[in-house]
Amino acid sequence: MKSHVLKIARLPELLNERLYAQYEVIDATENPADLPASALGVRALLANGESRVSRELIEKLPELEIIVVFGVGYDGVDVQAARERGIRVTHTPDVLTDDVADFAMALLLGIGRRTADADRFVRTGAWSDGPFPFTRKVSGARLGIIGLGRIGKAIARRAAGFDMRIAYTGRKPQDVPYDFFASVVELAAAVDFLVIAVGGGEQTLHLVDTEVLDALGPQGILINVGRGSVINEGALAAALRDKRIYAAGLDVFENEPQVHPDLLGLDNVLLAPHMASATQDTRQAMADLTLSNLAAYFAGEALPTPIPV
Ligand code: DGY
Repeated sequence: MKSHVLKIARLPELLNERLYAQYEVIDATENPADLPASALGVRALLANGESRVSRELIEKLPELEIIVVFGVGYDGVDVQAARERGIRVTHTPDVLTDDVADFAMALLLGIGRRTADADRFVRTGAWSDGPFPFTRKVSGARLGIIGLGRIGKAIARRAAGFDMRIAYTGRKPQDVPYDFFASVVELAAAVDFLVIAVGGGEQTLHLVDTEVLDALGPQGILINVGRGSVINEGALAAALRDKRIYAAGLDVFENEPQVHPDLLGLDNVLLAPHMASATQDTRQAMADLTLSNLAAYFAGEALPTPIPV
């Protein structure tokens, strides 16, 4: 008999196919707040990086023993509530680090060199009326990274290939050849490009606010491949509109898939639909890891990638 898994997230077909073949899936993606009776006895819950697994949801599932997240970020999971019940949580670290770092560079280059605008410029025939405006030099520029974890370090390695001068902020200085700044404001004031590579949650909520944006200044460019909640989106839209910062490249938003309406009308922001890790190869690797975690749990084996304790 197949084991039951409660699924509360939209997942790619390459994962769904194998999931449905191996498990009895109860799909509550459309309305996780209103669980069918068949869900109440499940031991395994499958979510993604954007899912909200609240204390309330956990309390509705008295038999729950594992929460498997298809994604590295698990800020949507109430980890404290899970721990109190001894519920294990797994995620998919490492396999997506390269893609997210690549995409941070894509946004950085894309907004710095205005590649999306350049494409439109050619397509609309505007080129016939004169040259495209000058853009911003990336090579040799100063880069600040908020959060020098796995992804932050991978961004730094790529940026080093562009001869960028790298600095970072985080909980504490690390043994790396980059300058450490104790606060986000100090870091923002010292760089041309400020990249957010931290996860979400209470500790990072609105870490980038008006003060940070003003420290980044009218020549500064902000990139976010972490979580939307790290930026106060209203403050960012105002700073971009008033040209208090130069530009931004964003892959993540506070209220996905909704984007702050003021951002949509601005041409100094490059927008992407939370796709940094969405390559075929990486989503395949994430699917493999997700299924390995589920399989290990049901076999009573050590979980491949539990979240850090
Ligand atoms: C992650 O893995 O956390 C990515 O942001 C996709 O959700």
